[in-house]
Amino acid sequence: MKILGIETSCDETSASVVEDGKTVLSLSTATSMAKHTQTGGIIPENAARAQQEYIIATINQSLVEAFGQGTPSELLSKIDAIAVDIGHGLIGPLLVGVESAKTLSLLSDKPLVPVSHVAGHIFASFLTTNPTLPALCLVVSGGHSDFYSLDEDLNITWIAGTRDDAAGECFDKCARLLGLPYPGGPQISILAEAYIKDNPDEKLNYFPRPLAHDDTFDLSFSGLKTAVLKETKEGQPKSVEFMCAQIQESIIDSLIIKSKKIFFEKNFKSFILGGGVVANNRLRQKMELEFKDQLFVCTKEYATDNGAMIASAAFYKYKPVDPLSIEAVANLEVGRES
Ligand code: KG4
Ligand code: ZN
Repeated sequence: MKILGIETSCDETSASVVEDGKTVLSLSTATSMAKHTQTGGIIPENAARAQQEYIIATINQSLVEAFGQGTPSELLSKIDAIAVDIGHGLIGPLLVGVESAKTLSLLSDKPLVPVSHVAGHIFASFLTTNPTLPALCLVVSGGHSDFYSLDEDLNITWIAGTRDDAAGECFDKCARLLGLPYPGGPQISILAEAYIKDNPDEKLNYFPRPLAHDDTFDLSFSGLKTAVLKETKEGQPKSVEFMCAQIQESIIDSLIIKSKKIFFEKNFKSFILGGGVVANNRLRQKMELEFKDQLFVCTKEYATDNGAMIASAAFYKYKPVDPLSIEAVANLEVGRES
């Protein structure tokens, strides 16, 4: 089954054709990141306008990449279904993808599958690995730092999450405090990597690991941001590389401490990592050391938002609905219904 996946929840406009949830026939992604770097962060209106600018060309490119040249109707006839990310995310950008997918579905008479953003990040791992179930899943992105279970019937249930900022949000906000451009996560990881290379034996415990010793599975990152702010205002001057390495290590260790606590207290067979922060090399390495062959994580190209993860999730959780009934939901919460 060939599914066209569409993802427009934030600053990426992405479309991909994936066969049977595994074989990526095409992946086309446009990004408005440069516009947001200029403004120091995302202005939702600008992100929505960029989605509108890129969406048609991106979808067309992904179909041409998958099937070769043809008219739009010839190309659409080669797919079996369309899948679209319906949230959570920024409402303006989401609406562009959702309304485009509805229109294509009605015109081509292809089934339309709504997919949550969280399911997309979880099923990104299925593109390149074969997780055993039930699995503990950790989604770490600009909008999420949440633990979920994925059971044998592929139901997603929320377990716990951050009390305040998400991990990616913390990377981005700390980077801003250090005067680094948006998005901060990749910037911090590059400078941290350089610092660790030059100081391989240094213990990176300058900042505390938030909530490390409390009994819950909760995460929290706003205290780290405040500590970094205080340090930049009142502390002895430190190099940006030092600060990046320390911030990164604090975030990663907090994630690892709580991941281990949940994983070993409950009976999971595997641990799935998803979301943009999974593009971080140090996080991947440290998680691999802890979870070894029980860790299932997508390759870096499928970590940040992309259409392939949406197509994969739609294949495994295939539930088409009447296109006219689909709505974008900015604050869609997954697995918290009961
Ligand atoms: O999943 P994603 O593309 O979008 C959301 O759903 O939010 O994740 C974007 C987040 C941003 O906060 C970005 O700074 C972070 O992922 N990120 C990273 C890295 N690459 C992206 N954080 C740390 N290290 C990275 N290499
Ligand atoms: Zn995301």
